[in-house]
Amino acid sequence: MSIEQLAETAQAMVAAGKGIIAIDESTTTIAKRFEGVGIENTEENRRAYRELLLTTPKLSDYISGAILFDETLRQSTKDGVPFAKYMSDNGIIPGIKVDKGTHALAGCPGEVVTEGLDGLRDRLKEYYKLGARFAKWRAVITIGEDIPSGTCIEANAHALARYAALCQECGLVPMVEPEVLMDGDHNIEVCYEVTEAVLRSLFGALYEQNVLLEGTILKASMVIAGKDCEEQADVDEVAESTVMCLKSTVPAILPGVVFLSGGQTDEQSTAHLNAMNQLGNLPWPLSFSYGRAMQQAALKLWSQDLKGNFAKAQAVVYERAKENGLAALGKWEG
Ligand code: 13P
Repeated sequence: MSIEQLAETAQAMVAAGKGIIAIDESTTTIAKRFEGVGIENTEENRRAYRELLLTTPKLSDYISGAILFDETLRQSTKDGVPFAKYMSDNGIIPGIKVDKGTHALAGCPGEVVTEGLDGLRDRLKEYYKLGARFAKWRAVITIGEDIPSGTCIEANAHALARYAALCQECGLVPMVEPEVLMDGDHNIEVCYEVTEAVLRSLFGALYEQNVLLEGTILKASMVIAGKDCEEQADVDEVAESTVMCLKSTVPAILPGVVFLSGGQTDEQSTAHLNAMNQLGNLPWPLSFSYGRAMQQAALKLWSQDLKGNFAKAQAVVYERAKENGLAALGKWEG
């Protein structure tokens, strides 16, 4: 696989005014989302729900790619078209979550490391054949008393870099995601310090493993106070802190940065992205790769009438894509 092809895919993922929809919830995570709205977690309901999202009319106006879970990449529309083919035919790049989730990090109480490197090369080769062109790996960093430890930050950065190098060898663009959780009562300054250390460690590890940044996308968490912090920063402070943190840690050669929503409300996630892009003078496109902030309103509506609300829920998906697409240009008006 040439670096030109990887770079081309990476650039297409962050094309102006477009972002990614993350629909890669594992079977256990989607179970929680379905349970929240009273939908039974069957394979057919998962398939039907992913069909709703992926076949939203004109989705590619604002969405460049979608991250799928293993099961979804192997499923098809009700008319029998494999989802990956449907996506490619409709201007949406297929992506795949390839990590195997977080596990307790030995020797580091309260911290986790993401697993999934064993056998990854073979899985990546298969995903490429199935049509995937980018792959996501999510590392999780928790802020708490005396954590994160340097050990946790480095172990996760190392795994992210190993996975990223394997992805590029197999022709997939790595979307490296070191998520600093919003759980906790830490303030925005603490989140800034932790995010800075995490990104520094990550880009050091990517360099050590010979990962080509021109063919890599960063999926970042925003610099924001913990959910339980009494002093919440306003939209401009989140935007300025996040951009400053990224500018001081992320090389300009990276094709783009996309954000996760991480538990922010729909409106917050869009307002923050918009405010960052309004700052201007950015070395990379800043866009979105939202899961909950793209889906939660549509899921709720669909759950009220699975057949009757199918098209209405798709209209909600389109609206959220449009709002976030405008925010990726700094043109969202609220
Ligand atoms: P949220 O936007 O719901 O945080 O999900 C994005 C994601 O892909 C997390 O890995």
